[in-house]
Amino acid sequence: MSSDRLDRIRLAGDVPSHIAVIMDGNGRWARDRGLPRHVGHREGMKSVREAIEGAVDSGVDILTLFAFSTENWSRPAQEVSALMGLLQLFAKKEGAELRRQGVEVHVLGDLARIDDPTRSAVDEIVSTTRGGTALRLNLMISYGGREEILRAARILAERVAQGSLSVEDIDEDELAGALFTQGAPNPDLLVRTSGEYRISNFMLWQLAYTELHITDVLWPDFDREHLFDAILDFQRRERRFGRVASE
Ligand code: FPP
Repeated sequence: MSSDRLDRIRLAGDVPSHIAVIMDGNGRWARDRGLPRHVGHREGMKSVREAIEGAVDSGVDILTLFAFSTENWSRPAQEVSALMGLLQLFAKKEGAELRRQGVEVHVLGDLARIDDPTRSAVDEIVSTTRGGTALRLNLMISYGGREEILRAARILAERVAQGSLSVEDIDEDELAGALFTQGAPNPDLLVRTSGEYRISNFMLWQLAYTELHITDVLWPDFDREHLFDAILDFQRRERRFGRVASE
């Protein structure tokens, strides 16, 4: 796929290895058109495909999408079930194509809460795509950042209680390893759509030094060119990780 932006990304060279995305604005997109919210979510699925293809084309290694938060369980039952239905549809429709593209899908979150049909659909896309090397796609489902840290604390406490870990050995690597992301590289870039300046309980540990790119575009309008814009914005940043700039 040719794109001026993609050419500029390649020239700059320093592509973020891991991009995380808070996909926001589906409801507003639908409301602006007088449509029910679930139509916004359905349109949002097309943007998911765009983001995946944009990530593959630009050479990103990991794409993490916030598909359903622990807070989303409190939405009306009809909307929750529409979102679960879309996840099933995505898993059934896209598995073969993602495998062909070398995308390896991982599903992270409190999966015990999701219904059986959604669970089997996501299990299937995970096994269909296992071994893909072009892109790792993390779908965060029933995910909350604080819950993830609490769960990690319990895992470590359990190991201390069993005697397989000493309190002195609890460090950042041990804690990161007990998160859903299991010590995988942290996001270099967080993209949030729909102009909200919030983290919304997303990857609280992993985002500590992540660059933020917030765009007014509503998620259903987001396409690969918007992802390329975010990458170009990232490439203009100077990352210091709390240190001073190098001379
Ligand atoms: C936020 O929009 C979006 C969500 C809660 C769900 C995201 C889901 C999708 C993009 C579709 C399915 C995903 C996959 C991976 C198949 P909002 O409803 O909070 O929008 P609003 O803030 O405008 O109301």
